[in-house]
Amino acid sequence: ASAWGADIELAKKSTLEEILKRGELRVGFEAGYMPFEMTDKKGEFVGFDIDIAKEMAKAMGVKFVPVNTAWDGIIPSLITNKFDIIMSGMTVTQERNLKINFADPNIVVGQAILLAKKHEGVIKSYKDLNDSKFVVTSKLGTTGEQAVQRHIPKCTYKSFETETEAVLEVINGKADAYVYDQPNCVVVMAEQGVGKLVFLDEPFTYEPLAWAVRKGDPDFLNWLNNFLRQIKNDGRYDRIYNKWIKS
Ligand code: ARG
Repeated sequence: ASAWGADIELAKKSTLEEILKRGELRVGFEAGYMPFEMTDKKGEFVGFDIDIAKEMAKAMGVKFVPVNTAWDGIIPSLITNKFDIIMSGMTVTQERNLKINFADPNIVVGQAILLAKKHEGVIKSYKDLNDSKFVVTSKLGTTGEQAVQRHIPKCTYKSFETETEAVLEVINGKADAYVYDQPNCVVVMAEQGVGKLVFLDEPFTYEPLAWAVRKGDPDFLNWLNNFLRQIKNDGRYDRIYNKWIKS
């Protein structure tokens, strides 16, 4: 073989080749984060990320294989090859980006607040919650948790394993506020909040959400970014966005 051929042999195989050979795109996510990924009444995975993942598999000509994974182990699971890609509403943070690569952001969100109804008109922003007498909830290992710790350091923070539990704590009167990604707060407010919660919907952080892949795989990243640009401009992204994301 020529020197050129040897170079190609030495190069690490792209996940893209593995996906095509396998005939399956294995997508890692954690269901429970409405409206991005959740389980419907029939037990099927649905949501914004799920629909885009299906579109992605279709564009590759392979089968979509969902891999529901606990949030706190999702990055190690990607690194140890339990699936090919994380599509789970993950915020691009510099800390995560040291361990994994991100495609270009597919949506930009920020943290918003669902407040117990009794604080209506009194608490107007996250700044008003910065007192130890207020109990604020969010989810373990998320940017919601990070935002509370960084921007509301004096509150009494209570961490939960799931979004559902963190919301219920406020609905049941045991906490004063739930801090989480704005699109999630929109859905929670509409489905469970009427008459019980107040929505402070102005995001107070900047959070690009993106698909994550293992490091050292420029071929896969290149495919993903071109796929994203295409669906953003040919109507597929808008159709999926309008179906799931309400403002
Ligand atoms: N955007 C937030 C973060 O990256 C929350 C994402 C939670 N996703 C999920 N599928 N539970 O930390």
